Amino acid sequence: MKSHAYPNFPSRTWAEVDLGAIRHNVRALKRRAPTSRLMAVVKADAYGHGAVPVSRAALDAGADSLAVVTAEEGAELREAGIEAPILVFTDLLPDGLALAERSRLTVTAHSPESAKRIVARPGLRAHLKLNTGMNRWGVDSEDAGEARKILGERLTGVYTHFASADSDEEATRRQIEVFEAILSAHDFGDALVHAANSAAALWHPSSHHDCVRPGIALYGMHPRGDGGDPADEGLRPALTLKSYVANVRVVAPGDGVSYGLTWRAEEPTRTATVPVGYAEGYRRALSGGASALIGGERRPILGRVTMDACVFGVDAEVRVGDEVVLVGGQGGEVLLAEEVARRAGTINYEITTGINPRRVERSYRNVQRS
Ligand SMILES: Cc1ncc(COP(=O)(O)O)c(C=O)c1O
Repeated sequence: MKSHAYPNFPSRTWAEVDLGAIRHNVRALKRRAPTSRLMAVVKADAYGHGAVPVSRAALDAGADSLAVVTAEEGAELREAGIEAPILVFTDLLPDGLALAERSRLTVTAHSPESAKRIVARPGLRAHLKLNTGMNRWGVDSEDAGEARKILGERLTGVYTHFASADSDEEATRRQIEVFEAILSAHDFGDALVHAANSAAALWHPSSHHDCVRPGIALYGMHPRGDGGDPADEGLRPALTLKSYVANVRVVAPGDGVSYGLTWRAEEPTRTATVPVGYAEGYRRALSGGASALIGGERRPILGRVTMDACVFGVDAEVRVGDEVVLVGGQGGEVLLAEEVARRAGTINYEITTGINPRRVERSYRNVQRS
């Protein structure tokens, strides 16, 4: 066998994030909602893409503000020197409200009681979230007037969130009606009005209001989660998840592979062991069905994904040190996050958000605008 220098990669498994794709997607979304502002949703470390670099790229491409879920996520952006407005979506505990005040974050009131906790801190501004049918967060219509009154001058925005903008036109239309009825029943002054997540930004123009609030589409993924091609919406996936072939062997007929020996060779089978497992965020549900790209071709997973590794069936061309693409493109082939999600019985959101940054190094391409 030809001898190779042993490869040196950033980590066992690594993620490459194309900030050019983030900028492209922000511009594409702005074209879909040309008269609205754009709030880039960068919660959960920008859906696993890295909140600071993604926020910088999104703002650079024309996003007006950012949204997170915890005060700590907002504080991280402030500490990195980001000065754009940052909205925190959820109800915060007292320590979170204190951190939000110190970090100049805008918080969300979800009830008259949470509005009272907010106005007790003189430095805080708030958006009021209205429940229009999702029934998770937000103030119900009958309490909206009271919460609005408590917030007084501190109110700078009012919003709602759709339950099924990716799948149910009728339910979304009903939520828009409820939202607009509450908006016209009270005086919200010049508060910023917003509702549209990615699906609504793409497919429900009547929900665009003053500002759209996309998350998943910023990353070039499809709002349907486990299907649909982002390219059809003019979106470009930003993340590629890579690893490498760390070991090759030939498994003899009758022998099995990985825990439980759930896959057995029928003939001498060349296999590649790849150092990615569910501790990296490569889900165990991908066992025995998914594939990865190695040498520009789809290669099937043999047996179970384990915590730290999994095994693929390969041919004689594949060598130790070859690059493996778990999500993304290689040669002419592409494995979309939507396809990987479908194989794992989940959605693209969970695939990228589940990548473990303590195991998976991230690097960035196209950091500067070209
Ligand atoms: C309140 C709120 N707005 C907007 C978004 C962005 O949603 P999407 O990623 O589907 O665009 C989310 C994410 O779940 C959210 O919780």
